[in-house]
Amino acid sequence: MDRAEPRTGTAAPLTRRPVLYNLGSGPRRLLSRMPKDGPFAGWSEVTVDLDPGNHPDIVADIADLSGAVADGAADLIWCSHVLEHFHDHQIPAVLAGFLRILAPDGAAVIRVPDLAQVMRRLDETDLERVLYTSPAGPVSVLDVIYGHRASVEAGNLFMAHRTGFTEVSLARRMLEAGFEEVQTHVGDAMDFWAVGYIGSAANLKLIGQLIGPAQK
Ligand SMILES: C[S@@+](CC[C@H](N)C(=O)[O-])C[C@H]1O[C@@H](n2cnc3c(N)ncnc32)[C@H](O)[C@@H]1O
Repeated sequence: MDRAEPRTGTAAPLTRRPVLYNLGSGPRRLLSRMPKDGPFAGWSEVTVDLDPGNHPDIVADIADLSGAVADGAADLIWCSHVLEHFHDHQIPAVLAGFLRILAPDGAAVIRVPDLAQVMRRLDETDLERVLYTSPAGPVSVLDVIYGHRASVEAGNLFMAHRTGFTEVSLARRMLEAGFEEVQTHVGDAMDFWAVGYIGSAANLKLIGQLIGPAQK
């Protein structure tokens, strides 16, 4: 994990429209929630999800995007509350796949539940106590660790969690996978963001627009 001053850098200008890949998008697009004349004007977004019911642009398992997404296609990856749905042993391959589709000077913004925050809030007598309310409904310690139980009960097994992370553990794994630098930022929904860079961190200012209350 690197908590040093943010990187600065400039990259060669793109000769094509920049693209954000929203991996494990769920039903909502990210950039449609950003101001039309804001810093993402001119960007396009490609949504990818395993669940066809979410109507993504690409129905695919993000553990293997070969055949679905070309090498270097993504200027930014946004992957919010998805990595915890994988078995732990799959994480290195998933992160390697992210690096494969990242363009030079690209970055991946990964948001996951924060097991450290959850453990600090653990109430031994009441694992079902509500910690916060998400768009899918109330979320307890059990939900953060094992996946949103109401969604799983409704039959959406994609929502079950199979592993978990702290800021330190995910940053370490991203560095091991080949990201050159990782910065983490605590969220306010029992989660955190890890931003992994390769190259010159050209999209640093844009990432600042993505990480924040607008994305709840
Ligand atoms: C908790 S939701 C998060 C949705 C959205 N990213 C957000 O932050 O609101 C997890 C999403 O990941 C998708 N998902 C789970 N495993 C996946 C996989 N292996 N490949 C692609 N999508 C997956 C689920 O279908 C679901 O839409």
